[in-house]
Amino acid sequence: MIVTELRFENYRNLKNNTIVPAENVNVIYGENAQGKTNLIEAIWLFCGGHSFRGSKENEMIAFDNKYFRLGMNFFSGGREQSADIAFGQNRKQIWINGVERSSSSYLTEVFSAVVFSPEHLNLIKRGPNIRRRFIDAAICQHRIRYASLLSKYQQIINQRNALLKDIRKHSELKDTLAIWDDSLITVGAMIMKERYDYLKMLREPAKTYHHGISAEKETLDIEYQSTTKTDENDDFGTLTGKLRAAFDASQREDFYTGYTSVGPHRDDLDFKINGISVRRFGSQGQQRSTVLSLKLSEAELLYQKNEERPVILLDDVLSELDNSRQDFLLNKVEAYQVFVTCCEESNKVQLKNGKVFYIENGVVK
Ligand SMILES: Nc1ncnc2c1ncn2[C@@H]1O[C@H](COP(=O)(O)OP(=O)(O)OP(=O)(O)O)[C@@H](O)[C@H]1O
Ligand SMILES: [Mg+2]
Repeated sequence: MIVTELRFENYRNLKNNTIVPAENVNVIYGENAQGKTNLIEAIWLFCGGHSFRGSKENEMIAFDNKYFRLGMNFFSGGREQSADIAFGQNRKQIWINGVERSSSSYLTEVFSAVVFSPEHLNLIKRGPNIRRRFIDAAICQHRIRYASLLSKYQQIINQRNALLKDIRKHSELKDTLAIWDDSLITVGAMIMKERYDYLKMLREPAKTYHHGISAEKETLDIEYQSTTKTDENDDFGTLTGKLRAAFDASQREDFYTGYTSVGPHRDDLDFKINGISVRRFGSQGQQRSTVLSLKLSEAELLYQKNEERPVILLDDVLSELDNSRQDFLLNKVEAYQVFVTCCEESNKVQLKNGKVFYIENGVVK
């Protein structure tokens, strides 16, 4: 997938303009607060979702204007296509190849990208819920029915937790817990199977990319930390057996706390470089490289699935990376179209192929 033209009108601080990116690497540089992230965000909106900064569409309209409009030409599915997004008066409109569509989700069928922004470092730094969200969101892109599995599991957990609290007052309700546990175990084992399968696919490209970024010095591994003693080689029957044993063993504690203390909703991931936890011991550069390797692998798996390479959007990744790591990102992520922002036109690491855009006060040159 290659963006061949990008048009913006009244979008944040970006002055109305049309840009023609290179099909490989595009470096967007400029001082702070000039519009670099705005440009990355504009491309990301064509994936059909929301801003990776969590902004509302109203906030994206340039101050003192009533609407914004974004347009893109891109090469995908072997042909030139176009998409347009307009927003004004609280109404969003989408056109794909000139035909108006009723919902943003149509965009996901024609355009895809993977984004890294500094907030994604939370994947390493913050709590397990962020890592669970990462793997769950990645699986959702591969299997449409996974999202409904997750919401079903959450529903059962909510009902089980409510029951645990009721049992404190009405001990006769204790027998009904087994009914919830049966469905919790089945749906929980299905979720775990999907997560283990996805990790098995993710691990190899993550290792390869991380090797590349670190000039072969570091080996990245991803470990699934199960609260139910499961293992990634367990078959479905073994998974259900282990989940049952774990729920039974934690029942006393669960009655006491009114909360389901084990299960896939409590599991975590640990990223390890040369066997050492990145979260606990990794340097800033290693944390950044780890998240980058994961994002690039996500792109690789999307490519394997759709036979179309997503566009790679890298906001502010170059800082804290040494020359050899920067060189890898600028010159070795071949085959993908990459947009990368930075504050200085990199003079140490030379961009070998691609275009450099300078951005000042919303004007892209
Ligand atoms: N709706 C809007 N209308 C006009 N300007 C806006 C709007 N939303 C944000 N801006 C402005 O856009 C400017 C550029 O923001 P952006 O986040 O793209 O900067 P940046 O170049 O990525 O800077 P940094 O290097 O600090 O990350 C900000 O100063 C912000 O105030
Ligand atoms: Mg920025």
